[in-house]
Amino acid sequence: MCGIVGGVTDKNITPLLLEGLNRLEYRGYDSSGLIVLSQKNSFDRARSVGKVSNLEKNLKLRNKEINGNIGIAHTRWATHGEPSSRNAHPHISKNTVSVVHNGIIENYIELKNSQIRQGYEFKSETDTEVIAHSIDLEMNSCTSLVESVQKAVKSLQGSYGIGVISSKYPDQIIAARKGSPLLIGIGENGNYIASDQMALLSTTKKFIYLEEGDIAEVKLDKVTIYDLNGKIVNRPAQESKLKAGQANKGNFDHFMQKEIFEQPQAIRDTLESRITNNSVISSSFGHQADEIFRSITQIQIVACGTSYNAGLVAKYWMEDIAKIPCNVEIASEYRYRRPIILDQTLFIALSQSGETADTLEALKIAKKLNNTLKSLCITNSPESSLTRLSDLTFLTHAGPEIGVASTKAFTTQLVSLALLLCAIGKLKGSISKMQESEIVSGLKKLPGLINETLLQEKQIMHLAKRFKNNSSALFLGRGTMHAIAMEGALKLKEISYIHAEAYPAGELKHGPIALIDKNMPVIAIAPNDELLEKLKSNLQEVKSRGSQMIVFEDESSKVQSMDAMEVIQITSNLGRITAPIIFTIPLQLLSYHVALEKGTDVDKPRNLAKSVTVE
Ligand code: F6R
Repeated sequence: MCGIVGGVTDKNITPLLLEGLNRLEYRGYDSSGLIVLSQKNSFDRARSVGKVSNLEKNLKLRNKEINGNIGIAHTRWATHGEPSSRNAHPHISKNTVSVVHNGIIENYIELKNSQIRQGYEFKSETDTEVIAHSIDLEMNSCTSLVESVQKAVKSLQGSYGIGVISSKYPDQIIAARKGSPLLIGIGENGNYIASDQMALLSTTKKFIYLEEGDIAEVKLDKVTIYDLNGKIVNRPAQESKLKAGQANKGNFDHFMQKEIFEQPQAIRDTLESRITNNSVISSSFGHQADEIFRSITQIQIVACGTSYNAGLVAKYWMEDIAKIPCNVEIASEYRYRRPIILDQTLFIALSQSGETADTLEALKIAKKLNNTLKSLCITNSPESSLTRLSDLTFLTHAGPEIGVASTKAFTTQLVSLALLLCAIGKLKGSISKMQESEIVSGLKKLPGLINETLLQEKQIMHLAKRFKNNSSALFLGRGTMHAIAMEGALKLKEISYIHAEAYPAGELKHGPIALIDKNMPVIAIAPNDELLEKLKSNLQEVKSRGSQMIVFEDESSKVQSMDAMEVIQITSNLGRITAPIIFTIPLQLLSYHVALEKGTDVDKPRNLAKSVTVE
């Protein structure tokens, strides 16, 4: 959620902190701040509300540069306390300890009351300030900063990724994680910490991923890592394959726009090395994949937001085509309802970031509830927490997705799920070689079909102009298109702030049809499938109640255009697997252009963050 970056170097750390913050801004952007230990071992801190650019302006207005070799910095996504300068991180305790934090401390009120009794003064409304005071308190009886942090975190309930510096130990940063991601960057002129590789990519490609409960002491020329039990452990450094430049907008105005247009290449990358002669290489899901897929009798998919919508599409595919029972559930519900998990279940965690707290927790709980459970994560983030927890991992290879609204991650998840469908169906004997070959050749056509669909952008821009004054919209679809309608509605609300709902078209008459009048536009998705005639009847029901309609159809669907109904033809003869992926594209473009018309911040919509690492 929030972003953390920090480092110990032999030069001024401030430029690196600012660059890291800019790269991390997609994680949270209601305020940001940095703190550096100056040559005199005193703290020099700057904090600003809003984007990192405000912090940069604030620093330029100062008459003295913030300069020092050690520092930590933070972009915030508010949980406790409104977005304001005084709630922005880093927080300080008694001018000796400073902390940046990602996560939530659940018992902070209890700790705060006890610290107030011990004479600590609170300057913010955040849960983080108690961490700084706890460490300061422990410093009275400990002989090192790392020992103070080890003792302090024992009193914390909840989740944290923290970076700590102290004026009493001016040669080191302490990093600790439980439930929130944190890594160490190993550089030539120093060592660093960050919540995400992205922050450090132009400085180093060598990373150590901290494990749950790890605490690291990071110095200029040495990194020492202690595990949950305080034992020194060796965590090998790994070379990242990501490129710093991948996080640029190139010729596009927004990351979201770039990522929509990157989908043909992203899908090519997802398919690469996973298929041979129109057949899916099942071992691309992991060495044990064949054995696991043969043994399972049902699938449980758990995810949040857009990833959940991808899971809903897969449910139709898995049951209809691979004939295997498949449930899909929102992770924040699943983790708290003590589900019954049958033996031989394959648990699939779907997550772009691989760090979504609810999805991670759902997987941990499912493993506890049934220790025979086999798990697969489908994620875009190699070395994410989810990959470390799962038996099998499949990477979507979409490349970094920076726009907060997920686009290419969604379509590559669908492609990955289609590959999984083939792998499972083939091993269980429910999908023939011919069916598999048809599915795979359909997938291979996707990049071309998406490029064709992207050519509709001009027409969609016109629609967006008319659409921008609406305050609500209804999205309709049947079968897998209901899930795509949900994704379309989610995209519209998150970036244009227009209220949108999705319904299975057949459900309309059971209530929502009461909403229909000329002020309630309806967007329908009409592929030429076995439900087309039923959908056409639903469209008549809507039309006769005066709604303004937009219908996205397959060229062969032949939905009859009427007054106040715009029919947009996408392409022809899409299959069961390709149709949901292709019909997603015009919905992404529609919400993008409506947001442009409304002038919202497309890449950083209000109140959202890219990676939801708190529950
Ligand atoms: C919407 C969006 C979110 C994410 C959700 C899960 O555009 O991006 O709904 O899909 O927060 O995130 P991941 O997939 O990283 O687990």
